[in-house]
Amino acid sequence: MDHTHFLQVFSRIPPLNRLSLRTKLVFSFLFVVIAGGILSSLIGTELVADTIISQARNKVRYDLSIAEMVYNQSLSRLRDVVQLTASARSIPDYLESGRLKKLEEFLTKRRKEFSLDILTLTDAQGKVLFRTRHPFNTGDDQAADPLVKRALRGEVVASTTIIPRKELQQEGSDLAERAFTLFVSTPKAREVPVDRETSGMMLKAAVPVWNDSGVLVGVLYGGALLNRNYQIVDQVRDLLYGEGRYKGKELGTATIFQGDLRISTNVRDENGDRAIGTRISDEVYRTVNEKGQVWLDRAFVVDDWYISGYEPIRDHLTGKIVGILYVGMLEAPYVDLRNKVVYSFFGIGVLGVLLVLLLSFFITTGIIRPLREMVGATRKIAEGDLSLELSITSKDEIGQLAESFNHMLVRLKQARQELEDYGRILEEKVEERSQQLRKIQAQLMQSEKLASLGRLASGVAHEINSPLTGILTFSHLLMRRLKDNPELQKELELIVRETTRVSIIVRGLLDFARESRPQKRPCNVNELILHTLSLVERQSVFHNIRISKNLDPRVPIILLDANQIQQVFMNVLLNAADAMAGGGTLTISSSQVPGDSFVQVKFSDTGCGIPEENLNKIFDPFFTTKADKKGTGLGLAVSYGIIERHRGRIEVQSEIGRGTIFTIQLPLEISEEVPPV
Ligand SMILES: Nc1ncnc2c1ncn2[C@@H]1O[C@H](COP(=O)(O)OP(=O)(O)OP(=O)(O)O)[C@@H](O)[C@H]1O
Ligand SMILES: [Mg+2]
Repeated sequence: MDHTHFLQVFSRIPPLNRLSLRTKLVFSFLFVVIAGGILSSLIGTELVADTIISQARNKVRYDLSIAEMVYNQSLSRLRDVVQLTASARSIPDYLESGRLKKLEEFLTKRRKEFSLDILTLTDAQGKVLFRTRHPFNTGDDQAADPLVKRALRGEVVASTTIIPRKELQQEGSDLAERAFTLFVSTPKAREVPVDRETSGMMLKAAVPVWNDSGVLVGVLYGGALLNRNYQIVDQVRDLLYGEGRYKGKELGTATIFQGDLRISTNVRDENGDRAIGTRISDEVYRTVNEKGQVWLDRAFVVDDWYISGYEPIRDHLTGKIVGILYVGMLEAPYVDLRNKVVYSFFGIGVLGVLLVLLLSFFITTGIIRPLREMVGATRKIAEGDLSLELSITSKDEIGQLAESFNHMLVRLKQARQELEDYGRILEEKVEERSQQLRKIQAQLMQSEKLASLGRLASGVAHEINSPLTGILTFSHLLMRRLKDNPELQKELELIVRETTRVSIIVRGLLDFARESRPQKRPCNVNELILHTLSLVERQSVFHNIRISKNLDPRVPIILLDANQIQQVFMNVLLNAADAMAGGGTLTISSSQVPGDSFVQVKFSDTGCGIPEENLNKIFDPFFTTKADKKGTGLGLAVSYGIIERHRGRIEVQSEIGRGTIFTIQLPLEISEEVPPV
C-alpha cells in the first residue's frame, strides 16, 4: 500500500474527531474504567472463587481424614474391647470348670456394656461354643472365617468385612433383617441387575483366648454391624459440623457405603428420613470402588449441592475395597460467600464508573467551558468584535491559554487601531492633496484664461487707443475753433466726455493686461491698508458699515508697487461695500504666518456673497453683476493682473447670504536690512 493510498484509506475511517471533546474524554474515561473494572472483577472473582472453593475442598479433604480417623478408632476400639474381654481370667475358668451359665452371663453383660452387635466364642477348633446374641445357635464351624482363622493362629485381628445373609442369620436373625435393604432408585445411580442387598457390612475383631498355661482354648470374636448403625456417621457429623444448619439445611453430612449402597448416613431424603438404600453414582463408584482413589468434587446430594469427599474402606485382611466413607459439606455458604464477594466487586465497579463519570464531567467541564468561551470569542473576533475579554479561572494550561488569548486580543485591538489611524491619515492626506491639486488646477486654468484674455484686451486696447487719442485731440481742436457756436460746443463736449469714458475703460484694460513690471519699493502693508481706507471711508457707500481692523504690527516691510497695490485694496474695499448695501461689518486683517514666505491680507465682509457658479468668473474682465450701477467688471480683473505681477495670489471664499473673504498674499521679497521708506 503506497503512502497516498494509505492516507485515503485513513481518511475514510469514520472520523472520531467529529465527536466533541467532552464526549471523547468521557468515553475514554469510561472505556478505561469499564474495561478495567470488568477485567479486575473477572480476575478478582475468579481468584476469590478459586480460593474459596479450593479452601472448601481442603476442608473436605481434612474432614474426610477426620472421618477416617473416627472410623478407624471405632474399629480399634472394637478390637480393644474384644481383646479386653478375651483376656479376662473368667473365660478360661468358666470354660474349664464347665460353668457355661456364668460364662453366658459374663459375655452377654460385656456385649451390652460395649454395645456390640455380636460377641461369640468358639473353641480351639473354631466351632462356635456360645453366641451372646443368639444363645441357642451353636456348634457351627467358624474356622473358615478369615478373622477367626487368624485368631486361631494366635493373632489379634480387626477389620471391616462383608457378612453374607446366612452368616448374619447365624449370629442373630434380627441382624439379617437390619442389613436387608431394597434399593431406592435415584437418577444417577449405577445400574445393577439386582434390586436389593442381603449381606451386611461389619466392623469385626477376633481375639485368641488363652488359659493360664498359655494354651489356646478358643477364639472370641465381636462385631458391630454398620447397616443402619448411625453411631459413626453422626459422631463424624457432630465432630465436624455440629448440629449446625444453614438456611434450614444440614451444614455437613457423613455416610458409610457398603459397596455402592448407603447403609449408614445422616443425609436425609425428601421425607426427612435417612437416605438408606440409595446408591452412589456410577462415576464415583468407578473412581473410588474400582480404582481405589479419593474423590473430591461438588456433588448434588439429595436436594442440594455439596462439596463431597469419598474414600474407599478396605478389608484389612484381604485388602479388598468393601465400601466407601463419605463426608459432604453444604456448598451454599461458600457459594454465598463467593457471591457476596462478586457482588461487592460489582458494586465497587459500578460505584467506580459513576464516580469516574462524575469526575470526568467536572474535569471536562473545567476544560471545555473555557475552550467553548474561546471558540465563541474567536467567532466574535471573526465578526469584528474585539471588545471582549476571557475570564481567567485557573493557572493551568487552560488558564495560560486564556491569558495569551487575552494578550492576543489586546495586540489585535492595537493593530486594528493603528490600521484605522493610518487609514484615516491617508484619507485626510489624499483629500488634502486632491484639494490642493484641484485648487492648483483651478488657479492654472484661471491664470491661463486671464492671460489669454489679457493678450486680447491689450491688443484691442492698443488698437482703440490711437484712434481714441485722435478723436479726443480733434474734438478739442474743433471745440477751440468753434468757441462761438454754443450749440456745437455742447455736442462736442458730449463727444469729449464719452470718449474720455471709453479712454478710461481702455486704460483699465491696459492696466489689466499691462506687461510692464511694477515699480517696487519697500513698503509697510499695514500703513498702505490704513491709507487706502482713509481714501474711501468717507464715501457714502461706507456709511452703514462697521470697519474692524486686525493688523499685525509684526508684518515685515516688503517690496511692492504701492500705487498698484493700493488700487487693488481700494477695489476690494469698494466691492465689499457694494455687497453690504444694507450695512454690515468689514474685517481687515494682516498677518505673516510664521515660516510662511507671504504677507497675508484678508478682507471679510458680511455681504450678499457670490453664487458658486460665478466664483470662477469674477476675475474675468467685464464680468459684473452691477450693470445698473454702471460697474465695468474690470475691478477684480485689474487687481488680479497686479497681484499676479507681484508674484502673489488673490483668492476668494464665499457663502451666499453670509459673506465673502478675499485673501491677498504678497511674497516677502525683502530682507530685514532694507530700510523702510
Ligand atoms: N465683496 C463682494 N461681494 C459680493 N460680490 C462681489 C464682491 N466683490 C466682487 N463681487 C462680484 O464680482 C463682480 C466683479 O467685480 P469687479 O470689481 O471686477 O467689477 P464691478 O465691481 O462690478 O465693477 P467696477 O469695479 O468696475 O465698478 C461684481 O460685479 C460682483 O458681482
Ligand atoms: Mg469693483
